[in-house]
Amino acid sequence: MTGSDHTRQRRLLQPAFNPVFIKSLAPTFAKCSSRLVKEWNRRLDTEGKNGAWSVNAYHWVELLTMESIGASAFGVQFGALEGDEHELMKAYGGLMSDTFSRPDTIGIILQNLILHIPPWIISYAENLPLAAVRNLKAAKTTSRRFAQELIEEKRKQIKADPGMKDKDLLTILVKSGEKNEKGTIEPMSDEMIYNQLTTFFIAGFETAANTVSFALCELAQAPAIQERLYKEVASVLGTAADHDLAEGFDANVLDDMPYLTAVINEALRMHPAVNYGLFKATSDNIIPLSKPLKVADGTEVTSIPVLAGQRVVLSFDGFNRSEIVWGPDANAFRPERWLVNDMSKVPSEDQCGGPYANVTNFGGGPKACIGWRYALIEMQIFVAMIVRQFELSISIPDYEMWREGAFINTIPMQKDHIELGPQAPLRIKRRLAKS
Ligand code: HEM
Repeated sequence: MTGSDHTRQRRLLQPAFNPVFIKSLAPTFAKCSSRLVKEWNRRLDTEGKNGAWSVNAYHWVELLTMESIGASAFGVQFGALEGDEHELMKAYGGLMSDTFSRPDTIGIILQNLILHIPPWIISYAENLPLAAVRNLKAAKTTSRRFAQELIEEKRKQIKADPGMKDKDLLTILVKSGEKNEKGTIEPMSDEMIYNQLTTFFIAGFETAANTVSFALCELAQAPAIQERLYKEVASVLGTAADHDLAEGFDANVLDDMPYLTAVINEALRMHPAVNYGLFKATSDNIIPLSKPLKVADGTEVTSIPVLAGQRVVLSFDGFNRSEIVWGPDANAFRPERWLVNDMSKVPSEDQCGGPYANVTNFGGGPKACIGWRYALIEMQIFVAMIVRQFELSISIPDYEMWREGAFINTIPMQKDHIELGPQAPLRIKRRLAKS
């Protein structure tokens, strides 16, 4: 997409990602989480032993993220948490891990080539008889059909009720438009809306599911951190034994839970769901280095020259775990760091330039993640609702977390058991105590 096309689309999308609208989605996220909690309670009663149930939480968090996107973006309940198999879920579930994890040699070559090939050649590659290409094509066909029906339906509803409230992202996109040269409002075409919906889906689904799964595994391995989080959540939201929050809650209460924010920030920092960013220099420039770097011939350089158009690959993990930025315990999961550090006071040379909390997770520049506020609120609510009801531990005695790189994504797995696919092996127990 050219710079001006992208800028226009970004402008059209802004109303769907403004902080007020995103905050209005909090009850939706909480309602979806409450359905997951209800389902886990049911399984605990029917499948649990001695008051505990072992579950691969990754699978459920994927369903939860899917339901939340369904409700907040499309205004649809898939019913995936209750066991219904929606065609969109089947098409996109585990797409990144199934398609890109442990690729064969041809897969590796293609994944790297794809970064350098013009889009028109990629469209030819779509006809190659490769499993990865087949998976992606099938997902595309399914989502196209699904989105088309929804767009048509939404256009009808808005025609019948032009003042309709913006209750999901799709309503905003269908209403969205800009004045053209003739001064009339030009709405987004079905094609544009479809492309946006697909982008939301691909960009927002597995990224949030992976981050929340990593967060739950970290909490399950750190009982003291989990307990502190539970106490904060229960003091603000009340305990699950008090009430189930099935109707959700207002986003403003999240401001009263700084430790929850700290836990999510720390999960983001330690486990960026996208592990590197691909940027393009817009002009010839020189990147200054905060510390000299020894290069292959043994000499030290203090800056790196780049030419206009040159690709620059940035490691998101590298920055998020840099000891220069985060201190000697950069590799430890320690949410407390967020309670004392004021990120706005971090010196400019230690800033990554991203939109949130000096972590690289959401990229940067004109194409930075537009959904970061959405993701943040969603993840805070998912984790708060789960910890409020359940005590988490790891269900496998010799478990070691493995961070599997699948193309640009990082997926939680179990060390030496990659064949099991994405894993968040939790043992859950119900918390009953009243606060
Ligand atoms: C933890 C969750 C998420 C992570 C880690 C993440 C990360 C990213 C990253 C790294 C980029 C590329 C940034 C760049 O090139 O500089 C991106 C772009 C994007 N993300 Fe997210 N994302 C997340 C959640 C979401 C959600 C929930 C949505 C929407 C509902 C979303 C929508 C988008 C869109 C539309 C773009 C393209 C922006 C553009 O090209 O202008 N993301 N995201």
